[in-house]
Amino acid sequence: MKNKHLLLLGAAVIAVLAIGFGPRVGSAQSPLAEEGAGLPANKYADCLSCHDYRRNHHPVDIPPIGEVPFPLTDGRITCVTCHFDDHETGGANFLREGPYLVQRDICYKCHHQEEYKGMNPHRMLDDSGGLRKIVGGMTVCVVCHEGTPNPDVDRTEDIRLRADVGFLCWRCHPPMVNALFQAQHLLVEPSLEMLRNLEKRETELNVLLPLVPRNRVTCSTCHNPHQKGVIRREAAAKGADEPDRLRLPSPRLCFACHPF
Ligand code: HEC
Ligand code: HEC
Ligand code: HEC
Ligand code: HEC
Ligand code: HEC
Ligand code: HEC
Ligand code: HEC
Repeated sequence: MKNKHLLLLGAAVIAVLAIGFGPRVGSAQSPLAEEGAGLPANKYADCLSCHDYRRNHHPVDIPPIGEVPFPLTDGRITCVTCHFDDHETGGANFLREGPYLVQRDICYKCHHQEEYKGMNPHRMLDDSGGLRKIVGGMTVCVVCHEGTPNPDVDRTEDIRLRADVGFLCWRCHPPMVNALFQAQHLLVEPSLEMLRNLEKRETELNVLLPLVPRNRVTCSTCHNPHQKGVIRREAAAKGADEPDRLRLPSPRLCFACHPF
């Protein structure tokens, strides 16, 4: 059983619902909160002047519920809650208390494992073929999406996800067994030559290998997280419920990008 290998954690649907749709509960501030407010001014202080990451990466500007072991700014999560602001400290990605052997370990500092246990977001349809409802009458879609997309009209570029794809999947999935392979691909931007090859193959094979966010390879480029029957457009629907949820079987998948 592969389920065993899934370490389940999460802010949980409960958090999704509580924070996204319910009244905002006052946040318990950590003792470190002052530190965030008093960060020294330096040339890196304004992250968004160089990185356009506010829209979706990990959610920011939110007051967390409960204790958070990292510094908040005005009681809210910001870029410097998780990252050092000097571009030197913390190893890869300048993560606080990093470097992390397994990038996911930082998630456990704030999220708890229990809430997602037993939750399979890839099961999306109920017995009558409608969208499956989870706690609070919301569709299962809101585990990843902001709201419920309409498969008749919404495309990759129309939908809004709650966070970058990697963050969405890491709540439940450890790195792939072939961790090196994953590292070689995650958030890599294909060259122009590769993009041309990809577009050509996508048309030939009538398949979609969507590059999100910001035109980079991510989990959902190769894997289709949706259950068969949810996505209606043929090219975008490929891979649903296939082995490993791959949009094309390997090694055909590889040739969609690599000429080799
Ligand atoms: C003056 C412009 C500038 C500002 C301001 C800035 N960065 Fe960067 N950042 C860069 C550049 C340039 C890189 C290197 C890009 C690369 O290697 O692809 C980088 C890389 C990074 C990386 C990736 C490091 C890695 O190991 O690959 C992270 C994480 C990061 N910045 C976070 C932040 C955060 C958080 C802030 C705000 C505290 C910030 N940046 C502010 C220019 C900036
Ligand atoms: C909840 C923690 C958290 C917050 C908040 C956060 N990040 Fe990150 N960030 C991470 C983690 C974890 C990674 C490593 C992702 C990976 O391994 O690919 C990362 C990676 C990055 C990278 C390098 C990889 C990439 O996507 O290019 C940049 C740049 C970055 N963050 C900038 C920012 C900025 C700017 C903000 C504020 C808008 C921010 N981060 C807020 C946790 C966070
Ligand atoms: C500093 C504390 C902190 C860290 C570290 C952190 N998170 Fe979060 N995260 C939060 C809070 C608080 C929310 C609630 C925001 C909301 O739902 O709008 C959240 C929301 C999210 C969401 C949006 C959907 C949801 O479940 O509410 C995702 C996805 C997520 N986190 C994944 C991760 C992953 C994966 C990591 C590790 C790479 C991580 N987080 C690390 C505090 C954190
Ligand atoms: C496990 C996370 C996850 C869940 C749950 C999820 N989605 Fe998605 N969805 C994604 C990601 C990631 C993308 C972006 C990549 C892509 O286009 O497939 C996406 C894209 C889409 C698209 C655009 C596809 C296209 O034609 O370009 C539609 C429509 C969509 N989702 C509908 C839904 C509906 C309806 C539900 C609920 C029944 C749902 N999704 C549940 C992760 C999820
Ligand atoms: C809430 C927890 C949860 C989230 C979030 C989640 N998954 Fe899963 N995933 C599961 C469970 C449980 C299974 C096993 C049941 C199944 O295959 O339907 C699974 C199975 C899979 C499989 C099949 C291989 C295997 O081990 O069985 C792939 C591939 C996969 N998920 C990819 C993704 C991707 C990509 C994302 C992000 C877009 C994602 N998952 C988000 C819980 C999750
Ligand atoms: C470039 C394509 C590609 C990307 C990107 C990718 N995968 Fe995979 N994934 C595969 C292939 C191919 C397999 C089949 C097993 C193999 O060949 O190693 C697989 C297997 C898996 C499995 C099944 C069991 C295992 O671990 O091998 C899970 C779960 C999974 N991937 C999750 C993810 C998640 C989560 C991400 C993003 C963080 C991701 N994948 C990114 C291609 C990809
Ligand atoms: C969506 C496009 C895409 C798919 C599909 C894909 N790759 Fe890649 N792969 C890349 C990109 C982009 C890089 C980064 C280096 C580059 O540009 O060549 C990369 C790098 C690699 C590397 C590291 C060595 C190098 O050339 O830098 C190997 C090995 C690799 N891929 C093998 C595979 C295999 C095997 C598969 C199929 C299971 C696969 N890739 C599927 C886009 C892809």
